[in-house]
Amino acid sequence: MPTPTTPAFQDFLRRLPKAELHLHIEGSLEPEQLFALARRNGVPLAHASVEALRAAYAFTDLQSFLDIYYAGASVLRTEQDFEELAMAYFARAAADGIVRAELFFDPQTHTARGVPMGAVIEGLSRACRRARALHGISADLILCFLRHLSEAEALQTLDDALPWREHFIGVGLDSSERGHPPEKFARVFARAGELGLHRVAHAGEEGPPAYIESALDVLRAERIDHGVRCTESPALVQRLAATGTPLTVCPLSNVKLCVFPDLASHNLPALLSAGLKVNLNSDDPAYFGGYLLENWRACFDALPLGVTDAVTLARNSLEASFAPVDERAAWLAQLEREAATAP
Ligand code: ADE
Ligand code: ZN
Repeated sequence: MPTPTTPAFQDFLRRLPKAELHLHIEGSLEPEQLFALARRNGVPLAHASVEALRAAYAFTDLQSFLDIYYAGASVLRTEQDFEELAMAYFARAAADGIVRAELFFDPQTHTARGVPMGAVIEGLSRACRRARALHGISADLILCFLRHLSEAEALQTLDDALPWREHFIGVGLDSSERGHPPEKFARVFARAGELGLHRVAHAGEEGPPAYIESALDVLRAERIDHGVRCTESPALVQRLAATGTPLTVCPLSNVKLCVFPDLASHNLPALLSAGLKVNLNSDDPAYFGGYLLENWRACFDALPLGVTDAVTLARNSLEASFAPVDERAAWLAQLEREAATAP
């Protein structure tokens, strides 16, 4: 049975050094900031107020969310917009005990509206540098391809981003999963590999276990984003455990997008028991009802998890990060010190 988190336990969860590895920066755009940017940039909105917009955040599946998410992202126009967006996220990340953040961004949704690639990448990149100076957070960017678009468009996007190659550490694959299997993006991921970029992919959120397998086999993904549907294939669970492949799980997202009916039904405990390298993330926190620590708190309230699980989840997040080895070692040492103070 779950033991509801006491204030002391919540404080313990906050103190644990954590990496957030599955965060779409456009998904951290809060309605208030969205309205302010719409005003500043003269972008018309479909909703009349912050309250009306929030009321529309009642999703039935991934696509129903994506439609609203892309509409929301349309207020982002300038380098300053992107920098401010990421700085707002980093302030919240620091409050949640995040020491490392790897931010997904979706350039195609911006460049399709005429926003220059440089405005997107330079704004976000500047925020990453400021996050270290201001909050002590180590941060990097992962460029995601929209899987509902073609591979040719993804290849063009990667080429267009190459003048800023040193500003991002990897590529990812997101957007509508069903009907868009990983193998559709075999060539662009191969090219990313040749360029020395890390590779991650959303798979097994709404899509079948076979998509997780092709993300590993065809895209050579180093981490699987979501991956929760792996439990439908015992052989795949065994493989993920044996290879120590990290899964970046997003519990509040999964409930909001109806992947699970409620948090008490989430398969996080089963994933942990199977020895999978699971870590917790917020995905699109402005839309799903909570930033990283709120995901942790909600899970520990609803699921049979304890101190050992908390330390494992934090350790998995740090070990799965693409941060330099010496940084990771320092956080892991800090984690062991905090673990010794468990209430
Ligand atoms: N883009 C933003 N959030 C996403 C999610 N949860 N799945 C797929 N694409 C996304
Ligand atoms: Zn995601």
